Amino acid sequence: MKPETKFTHKGRPKPSLSTPVNPSLTRASTLLFDKAEDLYRNDITTYGRHGTEVHLALCELFNELESGVGTVLFPSGLASCTYPILAHVKSGDHILLTDSCYGPIRSFCENQLQKFGVETEIYDPRIGSEIETLIRPNTSVIILESPGSLTLEIQDVPAIVAIAKAHKITTIIDNTWSAGLVYKPLEMGVDISCHAATKYFGGHSDLLFGAAICRTKNHYERVKRTAKLIGNSASADDAYQVLRGFRTVTARFDKQAATALELAVWLQDHPRIKTVLHPALSSHPDHGLWKRDFSGAAPLFSFVVNNMSPKDVLAFVNAHELFGIGYSYGGYESLIIHCDPQLKRQFDPEFGGPLIRYACGLEDVADLKSDITQAFNAIS
Ligand SMILES: Cc1ncc(COP(=O)(O)O)c(C=O)c1O
Repeated sequence: MKPETKFTHKGRPKPSLSTPVNPSLTRASTLLFDKAEDLYRNDITTYGRHGTEVHLALCELFNELESGVGTVLFPSGLASCTYPILAHVKSGDHILLTDSCYGPIRSFCENQLQKFGVETEIYDPRIGSEIETLIRPNTSVIILESPGSLTLEIQDVPAIVAIAKAHKITTIIDNTWSAGLVYKPLEMGVDISCHAATKYFGGHSDLLFGAAICRTKNHYERVKRTAKLIGNSASADDAYQVLRGFRTVTARFDKQAATALELAVWLQDHPRIKTVLHPALSSHPDHGLWKRDFSGAAPLFSFVVNNMSPKDVLAFVNAHELFGIGYSYGGYESLIIHCDPQLKRQFDPEFGGPLIRYACGLEDVADLKSDITQAFNAIS
């Protein structure tokens, strides 16, 4: 069954007499029992923090998305990455984190984990099987993100996973960019695939949510238990909205991704652009890996500016009328940010200038091109 069909038919109540199409949204902290004997049962949900019907339906869809055996839901995408890491480290461990990761994950590892005696070593996202040279007897987790946040390096995930498996190291990937629609890291042996469902699954820039999809029962039980012990709880209202977003995600993603690719191709020869960072372009340094491992691209790409002063960059961003200035992506509306990854990176991507990231929305692509053209004109 194709994803569109699964996302339409799974996670729904079985029809009987007059059944609503969607699962019920139940807001609950306390669940009531009519018998004292039931209070301490392990085979039923006994308290709202552990989820309701809508949470179960959503987990079913995330498992379908990436062929996971179990999914844990979180109140944010960041939490969907930090909890699985926490679940797999202990004091004295060493972990490896890609230099291209989403910034707050790096802060979490370098600040919070460090307080508990876990050492984080940053590695070059393009390291591939050379990662073996960094492995120590106490290395417990390798954290990946492909493509990298902002800079869009594609990692050789199968090569890294092969090394990790040989050393019994857990692999955790932030798979937010692809929404799990065009990239299936669990099928390549990655242990946990984390999603900021805030993006494409929310789809409307009005909620925060996360999901960690696990490849094995063992990884699932560890993440679930850690989340339970720390008091994790994802709201039923947000879970309901994410479930609703799932039903239409492929249609939105495909259109927005097509817009991004059209803009990336169109921008390639622009005199104010040095390099367009989009893995589907043959000029991208990791295009071969992308073609091997991905079935498509996402609505998010960046470009390195050519010959623009910091003042020009700000003026260019400010001149956009249809692209809102804001972090995030995956909503129905287009967004723009500027940043200089070289300021935060250990392995300098050597872009020689700041970059601009576009998140493409559902607007007409010709209207977006006109907006970009007038923004360039505003600085020329
Ligand atoms: C790649 C990536 N991972 C994780 C997150 C965190 O998601 P959230 O904002 O839902 O915490 C983001 C948010 O921008 C992101 O871009």
